[in-house]
Amino acid sequence: MSAQTVLGLETSCDETAASVVRLHADGRSEVLSSVIASQIAEHAPFGGVVPEIAARAHVESIDGIAGRAMAEAGVGYGDLSGVAATAGPGLVGGVMVGLSFGKAVALARNLPLVAVNHLEGHAVSARLGADIPYPFLLLLVSGGHCQLLEVEGVGACRRLGSTIDDAAGEAFDKIAKAMGLPYPGGPALEKLAEGGDAKRFVLPRSLLGRDDCDLSFSGLKTAAARMAEKVTAPEDQRDLAASVQEAIARQLTERSERAMKAYAGRHVEGLRFVVAGGVAANRHVRARLQAAAEAHGFSFTAPPLAYCTDNAAMIALAGAERLQLGMSDGLDAVARPRWPLDQAAASSNPMHVPGRKGAKA
Ligand code: KG4
Ligand code: ZN
Repeated sequence: MSAQTVLGLETSCDETAASVVRLHADGRSEVLSSVIASQIAEHAPFGGVVPEIAARAHVESIDGIAGRAMAEAGVGYGDLSGVAATAGPGLVGGVMVGLSFGKAVALARNLPLVAVNHLEGHAVSARLGADIPYPFLLLLVSGGHCQLLEVEGVGACRRLGSTIDDAAGEAFDKIAKAMGLPYPGGPALEKLAEGGDAKRFVLPRSLLGRDDCDLSFSGLKTAAARMAEKVTAPEDQRDLAASVQEAIARQLTERSERAMKAYAGRHVEGLRFVVAGGVAANRHVRARLQAAAEAHGFSFTAPPLAYCTDNAAMIALAGAERLQLGMSDGLDAVARPRWPLDQAAASSNPMHVPGRKGAKA
């Protein structure tokens, strides 16, 4: 297999990001640059991401961010093997900006384009610089997604379970907001929880009687938001934050353990468990999952913190892996607000009632 040097572009939410990644012929990957311009300050006054503001901010900065990624990597366009841009799922106004920019570069420089599924990017993020061969069991846990997947190879995922209501990051964000913490709520809640008593507040455990691998966070989100209204003293808030963090970690761990048992029944050796996505940045969540993985005979890997939340290095790597197998997309690739990783499972057993645009998760 040949080496690939790929420019990756990520604009699906509130981060404008560009990165150059080199995937060597032997499968090793090297991040030559990874530039991220966060729009947190622009959205903070609204307590969440405003799609129109996001799309405009991407338009204003994509050119400069991509230029910086190329300069920091020390490569010219002639050194690239291809361009990879997130084509969904996400806020479609933003996705269109990165994808159109990627198409323009591909056309101008006569390079192949890869239209990358953002979730596939998260799925390969733990492979950035680390040797994690396929297949592996993946917990993908971010602000918009929460699923357990069997990742068999490039673009080959089988869904074992998915949230039936909110994503874990969404639960972190909404509970943090109810507690008066700044956006984005997950990191703020983790900070507040430091040194808190996680046993102080009792929060509901969901889906205990169900023997599938689905997840649920809405019960604990509602209960915690109600508690937050009454809890005002700083030490009490700290204990509530620790209790919420533990309740979310417990739900993720209990459901992942079910998936580990199912996965271990089908794979005899090389049991690997990977967690990726923004919530994988949470140290308590990581520690709980690591202990569970080791108890079930799985190795445990989480991406370096910088590659847990949205970034373009994971998009560049996903593109490079596809290019290495001769896979690329036409310049007519479309931006998709919804794009399930396991299309078959999403169509036959949608987690959310499919809207006009198809299954969401
Ligand atoms: O992967 P990501 O950057 O964007 C999506 O694709 O959704 O994930 C963002 C989510 C947000 O909900 C954020 O609150 C959560 O990840 N998050 C965290 C932490 N860092 C980010 N949640 C808990 N603890 C953290 N340290
Ligand atoms: Zn993401």
